[in-house]
Amino acid sequence: MKKILVTGGAGYIGSHTVRELLDNGYEVVVYDNLESGHKEAVAKAKLIEGELADSGKLQAALEGIDAVVHFAAYIYVDESVAEPAKYYRNNFSNGLVLLEAMRQAGVKKIVFSSTAAVYGEPTEIPVKESSPTQPINPYGHSKLMFEQALDWCCRAYEMHGISLRYFNASGAHKSGELGDAHLVQAHLGTAAIKAALGELSELKIFGTDWDTADGTCTRDYIHVSDLARAHILALEKIEEGEPHRVYNLGTGKGVSVKEVLAATKKVSGADFKVTETGRRAGDPQALIANVDKARRELGFETTESDIEHIIETALRWHQRHPKGFSGGSS
Ligand code: UFG
Repeated sequence: MKKILVTGGAGYIGSHTVRELLDNGYEVVVYDNLESGHKEAVAKAKLIEGELADSGKLQAALEGIDAVVHFAAYIYVDESVAEPAKYYRNNFSNGLVLLEAMRQAGVKKIVFSSTAAVYGEPTEIPVKESSPTQPINPYGHSKLMFEQALDWCCRAYEMHGISLRYFNASGAHKSGELGDAHLVQAHLGTAAIKAALGELSELKIFGTDWDTADGTCTRDYIHVSDLARAHILALEKIEEGEPHRVYNLGTGKGVSVKEVLAATKKVSGADFKVTETGRRAGDPQALIANVDKARRELGFETTESDIEHIIETALRWHQRHPKGFSGGSS
């Protein structure tokens, strides 16, 4: 049986991946400082509470491990602009501590949780892995820096790495047991559901004058369980091909803000107030993945990313956990 260390495994995408790994017969050790992760999200796995910067603890945790899936990171674009050093320290420097600890422990395989934010304002839609990477905030930049460092480390230390660039992660586990517990800085899907549940008095659309079919931004929403499955495929294929490879993970289809809101109203059966406001700073008009490479090389297909299914599962999670795990969240 393969034993996997999952850093940041108690977070949103991490906990779904841990569940998928366990369901596929992997042994899982979660390494998480619980700053924004939740114990309850990984109740079925072994949990080590530790900092990414703690090289000694990491090395001990890496004992007997076959591969690492690395999620632990800060994720807020706005915060990264206000506090860049915090993002470079955690997402880049602490990532290097992990790579060094892996080297010491002789662990040679790593799947890295990257993001479409590495592309910044895309120069072509759909975005290919070979499209220019020009991040427009420290969040995306810190993730790109780690990808690049990983690339060199894989070559120098004979490691195998795969960086997965997620587009808009959304939805929740179909059991209703896992979901996005970030209640403070809600993404569109979560905000729409809170509006449908009456927890938000209105939903603001940021810009209706974009050059798109209905004037609102389009995004590539991918179900978190589809993302989770991609990590298993990546682990299975990690030793094939170049030492470090990069894959987009999305559906290849764009869904507009207005379409998300219409689907939320349909699925929830609730009407809510929608206000059209100005554009939000830093929003690209469209962000849609070209997923040919992941299809071809990893055999990746989405099965849960229909927008109504995404909303249905997220709605179930929020109804069962209105205040996230144990009533608290970051
Ligand atoms: N939006 C609204 N109203 C809201 C919230 C969002 O109109 O209340 C719009 C945004 O303007 C955007 C779309 O909905 O057009 C999606 O916004 P999200 O905040 O849900 O997601 P982003 O596309 O901004 O963010 C995603 C990932 C980030 C990643 C970023 C890369 O969630 O982690 O893409 O650009 F960094």
